[in-house]
Amino acid sequence: MSEVLVVDGLERSFEQGGARIDVLRGVNLSIAPGEIVALLGPSGSGKSTLLQAVGLLEGGFDGSIRLAGEEAAKLDNDGRTRLRRDSLGFVYQFHHLLPDFTAAENVVLPQLIKGAAPADAQARAWALLSALGLANRLHHRPSQLSGGEQQRVAVARALANKPPLVLADEPTGNLDEATADVVLAEFLKLVRGEGSAALVATHNERIALKMDRVVRLHDGVLE
Ligand SMILES: Nc1ncnc2c1ncn2[C@@H]1O[C@H](COP(=O)(O)OP(=O)(O)OP(=O)(O)O)[C@@H](O)[C@H]1O
Ligand SMILES: [Mg+2]
Repeated sequence: MSEVLVVDGLERSFEQGGARIDVLRGVNLSIAPGEIVALLGPSGSGKSTLLQAVGLLEGGFDGSIRLAGEEAAKLDNDGRTRLRRDSLGFVYQFHHLLPDFTAAENVVLPQLIKGAAPADAQARAWALLSALGLANRLHHRPSQLSGGEQQRVAVARALANKPPLVLADEPTGNLDEATADVVLAEFLKLVRGEGSAALVATHNERIALKMDRVVRLHDGVLE
């Protein structure tokens, strides 16, 4: 089967007060279906910049990003939105859950947006949240959940539409170490069970070694 992600010669620079910072200087990366890749690198090395580019959240880069066989640069805004919706799930360091919706609703909504039948979307939300130990928190709003519970809801939401590729940027960065380890282990297990591929930026070397492959950003390229 062909790669779910192929990044080729990706370059990204920022102009700041007349100075130019070359953050990504020719990043090459391929991810196979179902492969879980850890993205390591010191603070400021460009992990989030790379995930934002791959997530089609920002333009302004040179090089090629092929996602699920489609070249991102060739797509217009609507095309990118469709590709993002059909091919990607996101988990951020700060979860960005919708505060006025319950845990279950936060996982149901992206499925409805993609056209799922409400009953199917609810069944899947229940299954995902139960797998993450939240069967008795379905109707809590984010403000009524602990940090680790909120992050689990964000994980369920990212997987709701069975994306071929999950992008996670420090998915447990705001949790204490013990909770972060548990949530990240659950995340990996669930991603594996779903057969999704993942690219996970993390500072945690120990957790990174539990993934299929580790890549490191250094001086703007992947080692
Ligand atoms: N919008 C921007 N404008 C100017 N510079 C930026 C912008 N976004 C990022 N940078 C710079 O790009 C570099 C890489 O930032 P990035 O957020 O990708 O690092 P990171 O590896 O995710 O770091 P961390 O581990 O701290 O999250 C930093 O030096 C940052 O200052
Ligand atoms: Mg970052």
